[in-house]
Amino acid sequence: GLLGAAGAAGLVLGGAGGAGVAAAVADSSGGGPALTSLGSTAVPFHGARQAGITTPPQARTVLAAYDLEPGADRAKTAALLRRWSDAAARMSRGGRADADDQVALDAGPSSLTVTFAFGSALFDKLGMADRRPAALQPLPAFPGEELDAARSDGDLLVQVCADDALVGFHALRTLHKLARGTARPRWRMAGFARSPGATAAPMTHRNLMGQVDGTKNPRPGDADFEAKLFIAPTADPVWARGGSYVVVRRIRMLLDSWDGLDVPAQERVIGRRKDTGAPLTGGAERTEPDYGRRNGDGTPVIAANAHIRVTAPEFNRGAAMLRRGYSYDDGFRPDGTADAGLLFVAWQADPRDGFVPVQQKLARGDALSPFIRHETSGLFVAPPGCAPGGYVGQGLFE
Ligand code: HEM
Repeated sequence: GLLGAAGAAGLVLGGAGGAGVAAAVADSSGGGPALTSLGSTAVPFHGARQAGITTPPQARTVLAAYDLEPGADRAKTAALLRRWSDAAARMSRGGRADADDQVALDAGPSSLTVTFAFGSALFDKLGMADRRPAALQPLPAFPGEELDAARSDGDLLVQVCADDALVGFHALRTLHKLARGTARPRWRMAGFARSPGATAAPMTHRNLMGQVDGTKNPRPGDADFEAKLFIAPTADPVWARGGSYVVVRRIRMLLDSWDGLDVPAQERVIGRRKDTGAPLTGGAERTEPDYGRRNGDGTPVIAANAHIRVTAPEFNRGAAMLRRGYSYDDGFRPDGTADAGLLFVAWQADPRDGFVPVQQKLARGDALSPFIRHETSGLFVAPPGCAPGGYVGQGLFE
């Protein structure tokens, strides 16, 4: 097939220098469409909000956390954020950053977004504890979690998203090089969602358990959308206004146990149909669940411990968050089970009214809990966006 031919050409010509590489590119270019809107789409880096929060999820993500080097002070950290913002702005337009390695040379921006956020420890290391938002407290311990400290937290979070894996790799690699001397890598995780164009019409993603996931997320049309996601214009500290808090949790799925359930049992775990994502009380994906409906024997149709009943805002004093997670697949664990699951990424105006109370309830044992393990955790505050000429986080350092 086409792929096989292109692969073979690449193999033969790969080591043959400039001309050979060009020939390989030409040979393999017949296999698919040329630059489409998928590649040419640019998401502006600058604006009142950072990109990558309400941006529709791209096909790929790379999340990375960095810790400040021992000698990094406020000035060095601010300078890094300026370098990062400048490079992110240029790459988001499809331009090149300084000392570009040309990895993404041929590609369009592919909806690249780069989003920066700060962890709690950053404020201590920079002697700025008085500027730390009160909501950036360490998350409480939750029953059942098995957290790996080395892959949790961090001083600086970088979220790269793009519709092309090479573009995403290049963006993080560029930022990584710009961090040298100021911040060192702490952890990195890569995730994927569905590629645009893979379904006949755009639709809600499915996660690795096969569920339609994201149905009841806050939507840009909701009256209180901004208030749920972004730090209020009256909140303190002033520099964080218009920013957002993000919870990042690597949640492994126990896929072998999950696959042992038949589909009706899997549907009771969530409270929704697996094929359409519709609530078990009927209708289509967007039909409101009827939590009062009972079966003939008096039991609720959507079980008391169904994931959607436990997490729904109406049963959590309005607690809401934008879940913008990605699937991950990191191969096999030593025992042969899948090292795969959900890179849970949830944005909210205040985690104390969002993730924390909902996860406290979930961890007491919703029907999904036996099939997942929370392996890592992080809470970060994303500053508001910046204007051209400025940089993300500038308000903190001025
Ligand atoms: C809803 C899956 C973890 C919060 C859902 C839905 C699915 C799902 C399939 C229904 C469709 C939808 O509305 O998106 C999962 C899986 C998880 C996971 C597979 C772990 C691997 C979490 C966690 C939280 C959470 C850790 C927050 C602490 C929510 C919320 C809803 C939801 C708020 C919407 C509830 C509603 O308003 O109906 N989840 N979830 N989920 N989940 Fe999860």
